Amino acid sequence: MIRKLSFALAGVALIAGAVPVAPSFAKPPAAAPLRVAEERLWLGSAWYPEQWPESAWPEDLRLMKASGANVVRIGEYAWSRMEPSEGKYDFGWLVRAVRLAAKYDLRVVVGTPTDTPPAWLTQTYPDTLQVDGTGKRLGHGGRRQFSISSQRYRALARDIVSRMAQALKDEPNVIGWQIGNEPTDESYDPEARAAWVAWLKQRYGTLDALNADWTTAYWSQTYTAWDQVPFNNDKGNPGWMLELKRFITAQWLEFHRNQRDAIRAIIGPKQFITVNLGGLGWANRFDRYAITRDLDLASWDDYVGSGHLKPDRNGATHDLVRGWKRQNFWVMETQPGFVNWAPVSNMLRPGETRAMAWQAIGHGGDAVLYWQWRNALNGQETMHGSLVGPDGRPLPIYAEVSALGADMAKASPVLAGTSPVSSVALLQDYPSRWAIDFQLHHRDYDQIEVLLSYYRPLKDALGAVDIVSASDAPLDRYKLIVAPSLNVITDDMAKRLADYVRGGGHLILGPRSGMKDEFNRLQPQRQPGPLASLLGGRVEQFYALDEKVAVGSGTASIWAEQLTPTAPDTKILLTYGKANGWLDGKAAVITRKIGKGSITYVGALVDDAVMTTLIDTAMADAGVVRDFAVPADVELMTREGQGRSIVILINHGTANQTVMLPEAMTDVLAGGQVRSVTLKTQGVAVLAKSKR
Ligand code: GLA
Ligand code: GLA
Repeated sequence: MIRKLSFALAGVALIAGAVPVAPSFAKPPAAAPLRVAEERLWLGSAWYPEQWPESAWPEDLRLMKASGANVVRIGEYAWSRMEPSEGKYDFGWLVRAVRLAAKYDLRVVVGTPTDTPPAWLTQTYPDTLQVDGTGKRLGHGGRRQFSISSQRYRALARDIVSRMAQALKDEPNVIGWQIGNEPTDESYDPEARAAWVAWLKQRYGTLDALNADWTTAYWSQTYTAWDQVPFNNDKGNPGWMLELKRFITAQWLEFHRNQRDAIRAIIGPKQFITVNLGGLGWANRFDRYAITRDLDLASWDDYVGSGHLKPDRNGATHDLVRGWKRQNFWVMETQPGFVNWAPVSNMLRPGETRAMAWQAIGHGGDAVLYWQWRNALNGQETMHGSLVGPDGRPLPIYAEVSALGADMAKASPVLAGTSPVSSVALLQDYPSRWAIDFQLHHRDYDQIEVLLSYYRPLKDALGAVDIVSASDAPLDRYKLIVAPSLNVITDDMAKRLADYVRGGGHLILGPRSGMKDEFNRLQPQRQPGPLASLLGGRVEQFYALDEKVAVGSGTASIWAEQLTPTAPDTKILLTYGKANGWLDGKAAVITRKIGKGSITYVGALVDDAVMTTLIDTAMADAGVVRDFAVPADVELMTREGQGRSIVILINHGTANQTVMLPEAMTDVLAGGQVRSVTLKTQGVAVLAKSKR
């Protein structure tokens, strides 16, 4: 069988070589030096020198430096300035911009410009243009109009990024590279279709295997030639849809590796290479674990759009991003007050932009970069928030960012090299995200909201909560693991989870768990499929709810499952009350002790009060120690490392809040030792525990 999923592609070398296993020394080896991305807190903006006369650059950079910035991101849309016509290159301006930034003590992240091919390129090579899922070929005028699968486009991309790297390789203030920007749309052009067929052959080997795994006897879908298999973004056979997602992931991997390898061959080892995965942290167009595994650093864009910061959802998104590589991350873009694309592109409240930056840091972000420094005088984004106006003078938000810059400079020495550390993890996984989204069954079934319903009570109790991959994150460091929506459970995953429980871990599974296998095919056993025997229980039937039903002392909505214990030692934790008739009096939550560990199955989407009780009980059973209590509107975040423990507090509410600390701590921003802090609305405190 060749179907074992592997994103390692033949002939493509990985940058990070295998880490040699160190022999055990009597004396512990010195801590590894911090990588450049995490050696301090980074503050900066996206800046587009190609849009301005060079005479304007020094004042831009002077004002950046004066705001406390230490990094600037440039280059990611400037292909037509770097290669004005085919084979005619001009990197002089780019090198001058990088050197001028160095004069102002600003480090540089260089973006490759492959999101915006020049007009000459798409005119000469129309075959590099993307074909969307409906079969329409895109044209010039916007961005991201290229085909990720075009070998010609990849060769052109390799050429321009290699030349950029050559031009900049000796510039000491370049610290990192960003490939493209916000990978978004795959392409359905003929070349991509050929790659799809090759992918299927490599994954399945024979059409018989493919037909069996997708159950194509259904609706006469049986394929007798490879090129009969559809290639579009319509709805179709769920096995086919899941495979298409894996193919798209592999196409993005190849697209990025092409540039990564070209750059890495030229630049020094200390510079990082990242892909900015964009503003939709939860988006699931492709597998973000696979994409970031290949890179040195995870980065994303933190935008509110309309309205105001939702601390739970935004904080959880940071945690998701931190979980992609299980390392600190960068916020490559965030809004300087407002955007231009939201239904109402309102301004954040005074202090909210700063609070948002500290929330990113509290959740493991080491960098906050604003998009953008200064708006181009024309183009699609003239209405976006920025730090300076078209006159190059500071806008009102500049003062807030400058205050942030001063605070980040104070906090940087204590925060560098620290990360959130948790004894609790939420598991998520893209195959399950896809599988449920393909067949929602209830229009309001929102997996992110389901995850957040578990996240909230955990985060209320703890300074840090991990969100990591169900497929390959190490589990033994966690006392409690919650898998809210693991619809697809492969045999390997079932074994990992069962080993965790047998090793003393506490596992909670949410509804719809273990229903599908790796081909998005129904498991032949009842849910939770390969974990049903460990649970000693199963799902008799699932119900999409059109009305709330009573469960325990509260209610469930949207989804409820009727559970049955099948082992004598499986206990019923909660039952349904008067419900839809089918569910009345039946088990809603069941649990079984396995040695020192346990497995619990929650069959319904329960209200917040019921969830809080469930989570509180699970934390107590698992021995998870709560952090110190803070008022409801205050968010507590913790980072640890380098022998330091840091607490970050943000008051997201509108009234002043006083937080009593469990011990005297150093107030990093205000100075002095404190036993309590009072936070105004949007107020932030950074506190360091004294060394013991
Ligand atoms: C229709 C079709 C069936 C099936 C059902 C599902 O009636 O004839 O093949 O798709 O809907 O409700
Ligand atoms: C995205 C892009 C940027 C810019 C901003 C505007 O995040 O990466 O180029 O368009 O949105 O909010």
